[in-house]
Amino acid sequence: MLPRSVATADVEGKVVLVRSDLNVPLEDGRVADDTRIQASLPTLRLLLERGARQVRVCSHLGRPKTDEDRAKYAMAPVREAVNAALGDERVEVLENTRFNPGETKNDPDFARELADGCDLYVDDAFGSAHRAHSSTVGVAELLPAYAGLLLLEELRNLGRLLGDVERPFVIVSGGAKVEDKIGVLQNLGDRADAVLIGGKMAEDVRTDNPFTFEAILPVDVVAAKEFAADAETQVTPFDALPDGWLGLDVGPETRDEFARRIAGARTVFWNGPMGVFEWPAFAAGTVAVAEAVAACDGFTVVGGGDSVRAVHEAGVAERISWISTGGGASLELLEGKELPGVKAIPE
Ligand code: 3PG
Ligand code: MG
Repeated sequence: MLPRSVATADVEGKVVLVRSDLNVPLEDGRVADDTRIQASLPTLRLLLERGARQVRVCSHLGRPKTDEDRAKYAMAPVREAVNAALGDERVEVLENTRFNPGETKNDPDFARELADGCDLYVDDAFGSAHRAHSSTVGVAELLPAYAGLLLLEELRNLGRLLGDVERPFVIVSGGAKVEDKIGVLQNLGDRADAVLIGGKMAEDVRTDNPFTFEAILPVDVVAAKEFAADAETQVTPFDALPDGWLGLDVGPETRDEFARRIAGARTVFWNGPMGVFEWPAFAAGTVAVAEAVAACDGFTVVGGGDSVRAVHEAGVAERISWISTGGGASLELLEGKELPGVKAIPE
């Protein structure tokens, strides 16, 4: 069951507190990527169209700890971007919720402070739904709570991967944060027709396989003499790395095999790059996967910050069925966990 939608709420003349996930990457004090801001606008527009008296938008930004971080993670650039997009005086973007030390402890005092003067609460922050914080859970206990449009879209799309999927169902996984992903693969892997694993994760699976299914691992790698963008490289079979060399991308044979499997799929979930794709010499494997997922005409989902960045850099984002705004949240959902931010909203 999905939580009840903001579309069913009577908001006319009301003061609405909205929790969005406006935690965007910043560079030199500017918003470096506004995907999450854009994705948050439909709910805000709906509230304005339906006559809300005031829309108070709150979000965390980064993980501020010190006083210095307060300048670095102030909401000002995000507020400017939201105001520029909506141009409506009824919208107020509040300061970074994590500037209050109570936020991450789900402190009821901070929740009361946020809820003060508001008539209802809309949670649209899918990317933060795995956090039980004052702004995602505490306030939902104080105000009538509704789910925002983005939150619902995420639950619908990612939910399709948990239900009866069209087959073949192919999962592609990689990246460095291996512990984060093992749980997802354990939950989904047995249901997939093929699980393709690249990146650091492949090495870990090779030494100590935690799975009950048989993963498809790279047959060749792009080896680097050292961990550096301009390192000397050579393509080798996965088990023939020269002493001391590192496998920093999947090799051409692996790319072809992965692309072939993805091309034949009817459902694809991809999370995690195939190598150190930030460095051009080791980007080909990740780009090949991005292009193969884009070319597949089944239902395709990409989640997690690095793979999302890779589909944008490869210029194929438009051709992916669903790009999740949640990293950790999408993984926890697919792991079969209940997300506290979702659970806090009535059905
Ligand atoms: C994210 O970017 O993963 C979400 O905004 C949550 O941020 P967090 O991992 O700092 O809680
Ligand atoms: Mg995170």
